[in-house]
Amino acid sequence: MTRRVRTGTLLTLPLNTRTNAPLFRQLYEALQRSILDGTLPRGVRLPATRGLAEELGVSRNTVMNAYEQLLAEGYLEGKVGSGTYVPRTLPEEMIQVREPPRQMRPAPRKRPPLSRRGEVLAGNAKLAASSVYMPRPFRAGIPALDAFPFETWMRLVARHHRRPPRDLLSYGDPAGYAPLRRAIAAHLGPARAVHCDPEQVVVLTGAQQGLDLIARVLLDPQDSAWMEDPGYPSARAALQGAAIRLVPVPVDTEGLDVAAGNARCPDARLVYVTPSHQYPLGVTMSLSRRLALLDWARRAKAWVVEDDYDSEFRFAGRPLAAMQGLDRDGRVIYMGTFSKTLFPSLRLGYLVVPPDLVEAFVASRSVIDRQTATLTQAVVADFLNEGHFLRHIRRMRTLYRERQETLVRAAKREMGGELEVCPGETGLHVMGWLCEKWDDRQASHAATEAGVKATPLSSYCIEPHERGGLMLGFGAYDSRQIRDSIRRLASALRSHNRLRPL
Ligand SMILES: Cc1ncc(COP(=O)(O)O)c(C=O)c1O
Repeated sequence: MTRRVRTGTLLTLPLNTRTNAPLFRQLYEALQRSILDGTLPRGVRLPATRGLAEELGVSRNTVMNAYEQLLAEGYLEGKVGSGTYVPRTLPEEMIQVREPPRQMRPAPRKRPPLSRRGEVLAGNAKLAASSVYMPRPFRAGIPALDAFPFETWMRLVARHHRRPPRDLLSYGDPAGYAPLRRAIAAHLGPARAVHCDPEQVVVLTGAQQGLDLIARVLLDPQDSAWMEDPGYPSARAALQGAAIRLVPVPVDTEGLDVAAGNARCPDARLVYVTPSHQYPLGVTMSLSRRLALLDWARRAKAWVVEDDYDSEFRFAGRPLAAMQGLDRDGRVIYMGTFSKTLFPSLRLGYLVVPPDLVEAFVASRSVIDRQTATLTQAVVADFLNEGHFLRHIRRMRTLYRERQETLVRAAKREMGGELEVCPGETGLHVMGWLCEKWDDRQASHAATEAGVKATPLSSYCIEPHERGGLMLGFGAYDSRQIRDSIRRLASALRSHNRLRPL
């Protein structure tokens, strides 16, 4: 009988109890095959021998023997009993001298040469991998998936999917499904003071595609762009992928420092900003800075990319209108996403572009991926038009305010003055400021070991920041998860002997 068992690493191990081949040998070969063909990726930790033995229904000795053999041959590293890993580099000789078992895919070797642009884009492997993990506290940028109105959503999905008309099934307008473009424009006016006609709305598969499109359509390689520093790594990556020279511009309590940008690179072609809720610091850009930035853009004939990713969730203070509404010179490209207001896997976002750029953006978009899925757009259009969207946003504002309060209170109780978490007025994350001398990468590493995700501020910085911080997302986690994770974070930091016991 053949048993196929999925281990925690999704590895499928076929073991045959009816042959004479020893089980240890079969297990050894199955693991070796999986390591060589990449099913067990480099750096992955193997299950503990006891757990794997239980899953496979074999003795622990069988597993230990297989592991020992692989360790001796260099296919694994570490120590049986205290963590065994697939090594980052497999010894070349091993791959070459061994006769690979039949059906085995050749092990990935040296990458063939890429284009210069390809090399830069391929350098984002870590960024790509970071999207794959399940949301766990305090990973930022994820909305309350537990509070999404799926009943309503499913009704709308069923309505459109049951017997869709032909126009929803054929190719559609690369600019977006007209009813959705109208619904977005109708929402943005009153909600964000964005001035636009539906024709200016280009529906995309998320803000990320907007950044890519902007770089392709408006910039040439070696053009300069101001980037908020600290800032959004995916925006940085998109521009770097287009060979744009990034000019880091510091952010203070009023947002992007326009004077500093002007001093560093007055003739930049573009600036990327998150004025409503600076990513990651959380500050709101003051009106005087907004006006100064628009004035600079007008004089420099530069483009302002306004990323308004989570401004709908404002739970305190007076809402500040989007910069786009202040722009009299057609320099602002407004970028919105449904990743926070609905959910990220929807892959739906949009640009609002000045009227004289619409045709160029729509034509360019059509050659990249033609269009966004029309049925999805139809569902979202109804969600907006029938009032579900605004109702959901209102409920989420209350929920996020509560979740933030829970986080701030728990951090104060468990970590006192050692981690300063000040409540923000908008969004799904706050910055936890570490006490002096803490290296935020070390703190983040300690958190990871305790199962808590707390991205260090330094990973968002181009130039070093004067104080260390941890990015704490709260949107997706209930109060029990938040309190529990804060306790674990506090104890992880303490056990690194860096915090005084409270
Ligand atoms: C600053 C910022 N902009 C935009 C987005 C949304 O990107 P997308 O629409 O591609 O999901 C995010 C998501 O985390 C973000 O943090």
